[in-house]
Amino acid sequence: MTKKLYIETLGCAMNVRDSEHIIAELKNKEDFDLTENIKEADLILINTCSVREKPVHKLFSEIGHFNKVKKPGAKIGVCGCTASHLGEEIIKKAPYVSFVLGARNVSKITDVLHKEKAVEVDIDYDESTYAFSDFRSSLYKAFINISIGCDKKCTFCIVPNTRGEEISIPPDLILKEVEKAAKSGAKEIFLLGQNVNNYGRRFSSYEGEINFTKLLRLVSEVDGVERIRFTSPHPLHMDDEFLEEFANNPKICKSMHMPLQSGSTKVLRDMKRGYTKEWFLNRASKLREMVPDVHISTDIIVGFPGESEKDFEETIEVVKEVKFEQIFSFKYSPRPLTPAKDFENQVPDEVASERLKILQDLHFEILDEISKRELGKVYKVYFEELKPGGFVAGRSDNNWIVKVKGSEELLGKFVDVKITKPGRLALEGETV
Ligand code: SAH
Ligand code: F3S
Repeated sequence: MTKKLYIETLGCAMNVRDSEHIIAELKNKEDFDLTENIKEADLILINTCSVREKPVHKLFSEIGHFNKVKKPGAKIGVCGCTASHLGEEIIKKAPYVSFVLGARNVSKITDVLHKEKAVEVDIDYDESTYAFSDFRSSLYKAFINISIGCDKKCTFCIVPNTRGEEISIPPDLILKEVEKAAKSGAKEIFLLGQNVNNYGRRFSSYEGEINFTKLLRLVSEVDGVERIRFTSPHPLHMDDEFLEEFANNPKICKSMHMPLQSGSTKVLRDMKRGYTKEWFLNRASKLREMVPDVHISTDIIVGFPGESEKDFEETIEVVKEVKFEQIFSFKYSPRPLTPAKDFENQVPDEVASERLKILQDLHFEILDEISKRELGKVYKVYFEELKPGGFVAGRSDNNWIVKVKGSEELLGKFVDVKITKPGRLALEGETV
């Protein structure tokens, strides 16, 4: 009899994709079906994030809740990055958990399912040749991994410890997957990796020469692919060849994530980011020059150990100059297994909170200025989702969320939309 799976996914796009992989394995090999009703689930999974402390706390409150509401005999499994770095500690703290499965081991889900108290968290496990899963959470776009792990050692970041060494997935496997996705109706391909523009540095089973720019070109040549997005590129690897391909390839969506982290070269050095404030500004202005309509999003950490008022001012300067369309801003959170947690001069929480507020207020001002300019513009929108109140939403090429009044018939279509009501996070318009 078909069993029911309830899965909750925290964290980044990589985790969303890992969850799709887990779902596919369980559907195909174990006859599971998804449910949104936790009380009827035979298996409850949480796919965790460990980048900051908050999501780790959330894990324990969530599984405590699962244990209270689950039906008798249902199993609870913890997957993802927190599973990787806490391992069996999770079972010690929450003995009702049946198994723990690390971020690098998703394809072992059907093994651990049958081993009570199994802990699979090996980060050397080579997933680079894994069979891509055939489950997609969206009919209209496909997430495709191009690399796993990360070789950078940013001093604040736990990811290299949870996802392991960076390995690129061979291009023939990626292209086969892109072809399959496009054939089944996904006009948008979303390439994923911790460091996508470092693609091709190390393979475990491929001898050819390839880099991210070449891969983008190959993906764009696949029949049926109309849009390509990717996350995350690293500012250090944004060379001219890459920016030119980004600017000139019409299939590549004109929205770039450029994780700044800090505007101070001193802090960037302490973070081991590998670039300076000047390099970042140079890349951002070159990008704006080459692609006038481009959207640039970023990640910023405030309150990194040793960040002075002057360092923070430099971050503010960069934000004012680049005028990012989107900022994901975080207070520095000391993480286990990272060098920065032992740095001297940790910044007091009140100071970090104050800086976060200044940054976010400034960004609201920038967004008000940017969104005003959108009134009357016409965007080609790829519609993907029904929204409450009779709306359908999609994205413009440069990543604005755009919604219009409408119904299912717009889904999966590209339609021109004239913006009638700009907003900070989404635009409203009418089809033309
Ligand atoms: N390779 C990814 C990074 C993944 S982590 C990328 O370049 O986007 C996502 C973001 O979380 C980072 O860019 C950083 O801004 C933030 N982050 C990572 N570790 C953090 C920490 N210890 N404290 C606060 N924010 C952190
Ligand atoms: Fe983390 Fe830096 Fe890699 S932020 S994921 S170590 S590029």
